Parts: sequence; structure tokens; C-alpha cells
Amino acid sequence: MRVREALPLVSMLALTALVAACATSAPGASADSQFASLDSSPTFYADVVPILQQNCQVCHMENGQNLGGMVAPVAFTSYDTTKEWAPRIARAVRTRQMPPWDAALAHKGDFSNERVLEDSEIATLLAWAQSGTPAGDPADAPPPLEFDMATSGWSIGEPDLIVQLNEPYLVADDVEDQYINFDVEITAEQLPEDRWIKAVEFRAGSSAVHHVIANPIGGIAPGVEPRVFPDGYGTVLRKGTSVSFNMHYHKEPGEGTAVWDQTSVAIVFYKPGEIIEHVVEGDDLGMFRFEIPANDANYSFHTEVTLDKDVNILWMLPHMHLRGKAALYEITLPGGEKETLLDVPTYDFNWQHTYALTEPVFAPAGTKIDLTLWWDNSAANPHNPDPNRSVRFGRPTTDEMGFGFLSYTQVEPQRFVAGEEIPAELAGRSVVGGGN
Ligand code: HEC
Repeated sequence: MRVREALPLVSMLALTALVAACATSAPGASADSQFASLDSSPTFYADVVPILQQNCQVCHMENGQNLGGMVAPVAFTSYDTTKEWAPRIARAVRTRQMPPWDAALAHKGDFSNERVLEDSEIATLLAWAQSGTPAGDPADAPPPLEFDMATSGWSIGEPDLIVQLNEPYLVADDVEDQYINFDVEITAEQLPEDRWIKAVEFRAGSSAVHHVIANPIGGIAPGVEPRVFPDGYGTVLRKGTSVSFNMHYHKEPGEGTAVWDQTSVAIVFYKPGEIIEHVVEGDDLGMFRFEIPANDANYSFHTEVTLDKDVNILWMLPHMHLRGKAALYEITLPGGEKETLLDVPTYDFNWQHTYALTEPVFAPAGTKIDLTLWWDNSAANPHNPDPNRSVRFGRPTTDEMGFGFLSYTQVEPQRFVAGEEIPAELAGRSVVGGGN
């Protein structure tokens, strides 16, 4: 049932250098028993650097990626710093807390933007940390990675358009949760004509940004990645659009906690002459009528939609708040065949991942999509602000939400040429995931 057509991988980041896969071996060290032990002791330059380059540095570097306010605390680019952090690296990879990714391991390979270490890579990092963090020979290291953001400051590359709050806004000392709206006009000078969007990257202007919904461009929540459409996929941005930034600021209140914020969003457009074959659209599978009892550790709620046309499903993004626990997307084909699209057994509010299917999943008209979400409203949930209160849908982080964003396209390719006039009915569709 997977579609044969090859979808270019959603490249989450434009890396300017590709990295060679790593090989490991050197004598003596014992790794954690859970992971295969190595018959040799890995060194930093030969064995650890390649793993860090491929899996960590995109965030753990100077000016690393800011994913909706999630900024890595340390750069793993030098031997000295990495060595200092070795015990914490070992713990973070053993527990699979790092790299951040919450889909069940059974999905390995399903998602083009997955961040999953091989068991052998975990074993290498553990062995290195436990065998005195040997440096080895710098000549064995692959060349340092260069990321686009080191030059342009944006991981999507040089933006064609940057839209930002008109002026910095002070998130005051006493603010814990604040919702505020800013309208920003895109001027005729900034955008003289309608364009096809290729990539979108939000930049939180301060650590107080919890999420931004910027209709019709998209939005960010903690841990959401920049959105880079595969070649030929896009949405439309109309000239003269007014972008409405719905800001949610969240921080500890108190004297001296005020911060200035001037959040911005950068957009890369298709260049004139490039072809767009797939217009991306979406559904939110919203749940609004749930009520999570006080102290309930495993409350679940379910919703479903039935598709009225054939689509190719592209990506998913479950969204809950602090009590969010797990998410499950299932599809049932008109013939009754059922498949799990996405299983997130341990939802983490701080990491609202987009799960971008490596191959789009074909879902014919009549397919039923089931979304089940679970919440933990017990004291055992370390994020729970108050287990003794029943919780319903609400905007503050301390209330709950339940969404299963889903993005898809029409199955039959269409043909739009960037630079030519864009049909009116394609206006202003907002898509959630990979940047919204
Ligand atoms: C997508 C961005 C991203 C990637 C990729 C990533 N990290 Fe992190 N890392 C973070 C952020 C943000 C934090 C701080 C917040 C947190 O702990 O969740 C963090 C925290 C850490 C910490 C501190 C945890 C603690 O509190 O003790 C360690 C250690 C770490 N990362 C190691 C790694 C290693 C090793 C890799 C690669 C195998 C990696 N990270 C990949 C973003 C990332």
C-alpha cells in the first residue's frame, strides 16, 4: 500500500558537507551490557567525531539550530568540551534521551527525518566514555562539517523573505503564560507577487517563546523543525498577506525574568521556472471535548476522520501540552485493512517532532484515520503542574490540547510553474508540521 513513486527525502537541514559513515574498532573496552561490547577502544577523532557530526552537531554547535526555543546547551565540536561532557553523553544516549526523537523503534526507517542512533553507535560512545575518553590522532577525523547556518544564520539557506514582529516586545517580569497577537503586513516591496513556498524557518526571539502560530505561514512549538518541502511540493503565499503572529510566551514569573522578544520567520521560495506538482494541505484531527480526571495516569481520547478523496499522506505532528503522554495514528482502508501510521509511546512536550514519512502513504477516499492520544495527569508525571485538578481543552500550557496534525497532497500530480500566475483557489492554506 506504500506508493511506488519516490518522494525526495524531506531534508530537514541543508548540509553543505556529507559525512562518511563511521566504523569502529580498537581493543579492550567494555561497553554497557545492553549494547554489544566492542573488542577495541574507540578514539575521539576516529570514532566519536563521525557520530557527533551525523547525529548531534546540527544542534550541538556554536549557533546550533534553535528549534522553537530548544537550544542545545553545549557544542560538541572540540575534544576538550566533548570529553568534559562524556558522562552526560553516555547517559543521554543510553536512555535514548538524545538525539531527541519519540517514535517507537519499530518505525525505524519509516521517517526521513528520524534521529535514531544505531546500537553500535551507542556502544561506541559508551565505550569511549568508559575507557578514559582517548583523543587518538586528529588526522583520523573527517573534515569539520559546515552547516549553511554558519554563513546565512538560517538552516534553510539564504531566505528570500524575512517577516518579523514590527518591534521588540517586552515579556514582563510577572508573565507566566501570555497570549498576544501581532499583525505584520508583508509589504509590496517585500513581496511584489504571489510565490510558492519551498521552506520556512521560524526563529524564536527569546527563550520565553513557547509557541507561535503565524497564519497563514505556519508556526512553531518547542522542538519543531524548520519545514523544507521536498522538491515539487509547496504551498502558496499571496502578496499583500497580513501575517498574524499569535504568540504564546511561557516562563517562570519573577523579578528580573523579563525578556525582549522579536520573533521572526524566514521563507525560501521556488525560483521562477521551477515546477510545483503537489500542493500540500492538511487536517488537524482536533479533540475538544475531553476531560482528564485528577490523578488519572492513563487517560485517553479518540477521534477519527474519513477521507473524501484520494490523498498521499506526507507527515504527522501530534500536539498536546504538559500532561501529554502518548499518541497513535492508525488508518483503516476501505477494504478493512488496518495499519499503524505512527506510534509515539513517550510523547515529550518539549519535542514536538514532525514525523515525515520516507515514502508517502497512499490513502484512497473512504480511508478512516484514527487518532488516539493519552495523557498522564498523575503526580508521577514530572511536568504535571497540578495532578489534583481535572483538565480540559484550553490555551494555557497548564490546560490541555489534543491535535493530530496531518499533511497530505492530491495523488495525481498537478503542474504549476513558479513565476506564473497562481490559481485563486490555492490561496492561503496553512500547513502544520515541520515548521508549523
Ligand atoms: C535536534 C537537536 C539536538 C540533537 C540532534 C541532539 N541534541 Fe542533545 N540537546 C539538545 C537540546 C535542545 C538539549 C537541552 C534540552 C534537553 O536536555 O532536552 C540537549 C541536551 C543534551 C545533553 C544534556 C542532557 C542533560 O541534561 O544531561 C546531552 C549530554 C546531549 N544533549 C547529548 C547529545 C548527543 C550525544 C547527541 C547526538 C547523539 C545529541 N545530543 C543530539 C538538542 C539536540
